[in-house]
Amino acid sequence: MTDLLTPVLTDNWDAERSWTLASYESLGGYGALRKALADLTPDAVIEAVKDSGLRGRGGAGFPTGMKWGFIPQDNPNPKYLVVNADESEPGTCKDIPLMMASPHTLIEGVILSSYAIRANTAFIYVRGEVLHVVRRLQAAVQEAYAAGHLGSDIHGSGYNLDLVIHAGAGAYICGEETALLDSLEGRRGQPRLRPPFPAVAGLYASPTVINNVESIASVPSIIDHGAAWFASMGTEKSKGYGIFSLSGHVKRPGQYEAPLGITLRQLIDLAGGMRDGHELKFWTPGGSSTPLLTAEHLDVPLDFEGVAAVGSMLGTRALQLFDETTCVVRAVLRWTEFYKHESCGKCTPCREGTWWLVQILAALEQGQGSEADLDLLLDQCDNILGRSFCALGDGATSPISSSIQFFRDEYLAHLTHGGCPFDPAAATVFATAGATA
Ligand SMILES: Cc1cc2nc3c(=O)[nH]c(=O)nc-3n(C[C@H](O)[C@H](O)[C@H](O)COP(=O)(O)O)c2cc1C
Ligand code: SF4
Repeated sequence: MTDLLTPVLTDNWDAERSWTLASYESLGGYGALRKALADLTPDAVIEAVKDSGLRGRGGAGFPTGMKWGFIPQDNPNPKYLVVNADESEPGTCKDIPLMMASPHTLIEGVILSSYAIRANTAFIYVRGEVLHVVRRLQAAVQEAYAAGHLGSDIHGSGYNLDLVIHAGAGAYICGEETALLDSLEGRRGQPRLRPPFPAVAGLYASPTVINNVESIASVPSIIDHGAAWFASMGTEKSKGYGIFSLSGHVKRPGQYEAPLGITLRQLIDLAGGMRDGHELKFWTPGGSSTPLLTAEHLDVPLDFEGVAAVGSMLGTRALQLFDETTCVVRAVLRWTEFYKHESCGKCTPCREGTWWLVQILAALEQGQGSEADLDLLLDQCDNILGRSFCALGDGATSPISSSIQFFRDEYLAHLTHGGCPFDPAAATVFATAGATA
């Protein structure tokens, strides 16, 4: 089974002091940078990333090279690269391990990507709570400056780049790229109206590329091994490899780097199976903002198209697995409380809607209300989805509408039971609840 894995970003994580420059360089690190500065024009780097088929690893899957190509090079303002390292989506846990284990992979990617878009200043916006990551990145940046990978006239190429590590203050909305820009500029993080898009008027109203950590960290391997090598992995429209983060009721939760298109069944096998004596009940393909799936979907190819075809989204490949001992209503309530807490308040459907969703879900979880409340919940979701200012509101509706689709009986059981009927003895009653879909 292990031949299903394609360790590239995770390849050096087991190396002795993998986070140091010495370790990274001993394994060929910064070779792609030297190659690009010596042999490739910025446009050639953009072409290589376009040809590789790399799509954004932050959730939406937008083609990375195409995004870089939108930067208007005739705009006289400075160009900026901003790395989105906010990683706050429930279940998502790939960027932080990557930055801890191998910060230089990201830094090399930042330099290559900045060179491509002709930026002389780049930022890594890190989630504020993870101080250990901030410190590790800062130490790695200092090493990179000392080695001449950052700063003026990098390796005699005439190219200059400064890299700033910026710690956010810990708000989920600051992962939304335009809220992130407001936060980086020192304002309260709230999404901006688009257009103008960041490529035209982003940070300090200047052309800006914003990419996820994993997207940028993938660039050195593309330059090193070539676009065709990257495109040889994955599926027709979802190229390359990605980190799949398995959490929850599996025997060996963790990071599994594999080609896009691998299935959850294969990943669970790699993770040693579900815990003994238990079965998969429901799972998220890409964090809590992606609609829940069930055991019926074990063989869905985990690429952008495959997951969309069954009504969900690949998102960040944050696979949270729940077995039959978990109350889906309770799980959905907890996620919804998160969205209510993290709603930035800018628009009414999300600010008011998430509050109401929590009230109704909390009552249902305690066995209060009636079956009509399920339709009320769906109606509220309908009023939030597509009517909110940003995707946080849309995402808040995903666990609710999908759980009612697949586990309506379990909601109703709370009403007939007069409270949460979920205890280990009752669990088997709901193990097949997915069949109500
Ligand atoms: C509420 C919210 C939170 C988000 N959080 C993150 C995040 O933590 N990291 C991230 O890369 N993208 C996050 N995104 C997506 C970004 O807006 C953006 O699409 C992404 O950074 C683009 O990078 P990519 O093209 O490399 O995927 C979030 C979006 C929303 C709506
Ligand atoms: S959808 Fe929610 S998070 Fe997004 S702008 Fe509206 S209130 Fe803020």
